[in-house]
Amino acid sequence: MACKIANTFGIDASCRRYIEIGGCDEAQRVVRMLTDADNPLLVVGEGSNILFTKDFDGTVLHPAMDGYDVTVCPDRVILRCDSGMKWDDLVETCVRNGWHGLENLSGIPGDVGSAAVQNIGAYGTEAKDFISAVSVIDLQTRTGDIITIPATELKYGYRYSRFKDEWKGRYLITQVSFNLSVTYSPRIDYGNIRSILREKDINNPTAEQMREIILDIRSAKLPDPKVTGSAGSFFMNPVVSTDEYLSIKEAYPDMPYYAVDDRHVKIPAAWLIERCGWKGRSMGKAAVHDRQPLVLVNKGGATGRDVLNLCNAIQADVSRCFGISLKPEVIII
Ligand code: EPU
Repeated sequence: MACKIANTFGIDASCRRYIEIGGCDEAQRVVRMLTDADNPLLVVGEGSNILFTKDFDGTVLHPAMDGYDVTVCPDRVILRCDSGMKWDDLVETCVRNGWHGLENLSGIPGDVGSAAVQNIGAYGTEAKDFISAVSVIDLQTRTGDIITIPATELKYGYRYSRFKDEWKGRYLITQVSFNLSVTYSPRIDYGNIRSILREKDINNPTAEQMREIILDIRSAKLPDPKVTGSAGSFFMNPVVSTDEYLSIKEAYPDMPYYAVDDRHVKIPAAWLIERCGWKGRSMGKAAVHDRQPLVLVNKGGATGRDVLNLCNAIQADVSRCFGISLKPEVIII
């Protein structure tokens, strides 16, 4: 197979055909021209949330369009952004122009289209809080028409949308619309943001200051995918029933948790993995990151299989110790 597929894990993976799409019109033309011989299809953005355990015997579509347009209303800004724009370029553009909401999502790798698929989240903010609609082309009918789906129809949840499930593989996302504010209200309730603000003697952070703080927290804890291959968080934080949580807590009284609703809690997978002794450990050329055990890394030359073996070993230990099944956040091909 001739064409390499770029991915932040740095795994060597190829496909039969790779089509880079430079604009929405081009996306329409490309989809209309696809034939059965091009099947199966896979849309890949920056490859920052995907693990290739084998080559992909089909056609990869890579949206590379990265423009945007803005409609300014008195108190809001509607920003319509092409799906191939780098997510962090979008956040940086918004902070620079005073279009607010996405600050806490600074520094996340990946493209705008992928952000809309998996509802990226960090530091108390999720993309779904600001996405108003997603424009797509249907890869099943291949008419090439652009359909705009309101966010209310996307069933957004924690790292979840219909695109990950019932609509998996069905659509090529061309644009994502965001509803942003022209006034800034900082979100400072997550983790150690408040204490960092106190240390820096900042009472009411500006959007620029918040972006800097988030970028600092991330670079202190998470590997830079340009240096170390990874796909960010490999697992989702498991959500368990309150009863299940209470029974595990008897054996592990210091287990952290976050209330989801009055019957469920979320337990940090990082804590579960660390307690099973996996923090910083390697298996072959794949390893668990030594500062954030939720992240699996490629130490250099790892295959997708190496990472998958490590993933399986961690899942087995967490299940044995806690009776909890860890689900990968990363899409495994
Ligand atoms: N923890 C440990 N040991 C560690 C690190 C963390 O036990 O070495 C525990 C601690 O109890 C800590 C808790 O994990 O309080 C939560 O850690 P953190 O705030 O770093 O967040 P996370 O739950 O591990 C999630 C997202 C990240 C996002 C951070 C910050 C998921 C799957 N991951 O991680 O997203 O940056 O919150 O908001 O929800 C990504 O998706 O690629 C990603 C990095």
